[in-house]
Amino acid sequence: MQTEQAREVPVVAGLGSWLPPRVVRNEELAQRLDTSDEWIRTRTGIAERRIAGDGIATIRMAIEAGSRALRSASAQTVDALVLATSTPDQLCPASAPQVATGLGFNGIPAFDVNAVCSGFLYGLASGGGLISSGMAQRVLVIGADTFSTLINPDDRTTMPIFGDGAGAVVLRAGRPDELGALGPIDLHSDGDQAGLLFVPAGGAQQRVDGVPMEAGDYFLAMKGAETFYLAYSRMAESARTVLDRAGWTVADVDRFVGHQANARILYTVAKQLGVPEEKVAVNVDRVGNTVAASIPLALADSARDGTLRTGDRVLLSAFGAGLTWGAAVLRWPDLRVC
Ligand code: ACO
Repeated sequence: MQTEQAREVPVVAGLGSWLPPRVVRNEELAQRLDTSDEWIRTRTGIAERRIAGDGIATIRMAIEAGSRALRSASAQTVDALVLATSTPDQLCPASAPQVATGLGFNGIPAFDVNAVCSGFLYGLASGGGLISSGMAQRVLVIGADTFSTLINPDDRTTMPIFGDGAGAVVLRAGRPDELGALGPIDLHSDGDQAGLLFVPAGGAQQRVDGVPMEAGDYFLAMKGAETFYLAYSRMAESARTVLDRAGWTVADVDRFVGHQANARILYTVAKQLGVPEEKVAVNVDRVGNTVAASIPLALADSARDGTLRTGDRVLLSAFGAGLTWGAAVLRWPDLRVC
């Protein structure tokens, strides 16, 4: 017989977000790259993004967002911390322990999860799993990336797309029928397609080979058009799977909060699923693609502007380098975003 303890599931209890102060508008990029505000807006939906600097990198942003999520949940402590990031402050060690210490939780289990733009969903699954297994009662899951550090400032095909930022949720143990309870999460990967988006230099492979690389190989290389097709088709596929597992129809979805890589991808996924455009959360215009921070930032902005309301049935979906992708559902809890 299952005990009460074994039936506990992760429930979203707090949400916080943080952006570095420096705003970079399309017009600023167009002054030094062969691009235009019009091209960037039409092809991506992005108007501006935030760029870290002046000593602000992933750990600092994660601490800022994490402390806001803790305040939102009125939580003094957590039992574990999961940091979704592909841009840790150092290649080694992981950044999560320093984030935990920075938040005053020295000693708790803390680890990084690297699933690039799907990182937050992978982080939710990892943090949620600690709760479902009974290992933790409360977990802080943060998505934070300083992806601008992996972008060649002279590359007009990648420079306009990415921005920096952080978002975080507190998960607590609760019941499956509560608002905020995480529903099914569907996750996938395809290593065969790793070459579509990757940073060639700086990793173990290059060090083992000892072959000198060009300076540009330390930046992201991306096959944008091929990625575009895979992004919307995999996101739609995974969304259908998770809706099915949850026993929801597309009509049940009140808010579609997808990874903010490109507004065109979001609307294509919505169209494929049959979700009306007005239910699609879009903040990519203000923040760009913030990688693992993207979904919590979109949730925070939607909750702040009132388009995400208590009790709403929310569909989350993401796609990123790896490749990795996935989807999840939950009913939005009653909380104050910080
Ligand atoms: N300004 C002006 N022209 C540009 C720019 C720019 N900033 N960037 C590219 N172009 C040009 C290209 O050179 C090309 O010119 P050509 O036809 O003369 O060769 C033309 O515009 C079209 O290029 P495409 O790459 O086909 O443009 P597309 O409409 O596909 O948009 C974009 C590019 C925005 C990158 C799009 O493909 C995209 O969003 N892809 C998906 C990205 C994504 O989802 N990534 C996953 C997550 S990221 C992660 O995990 C790290």
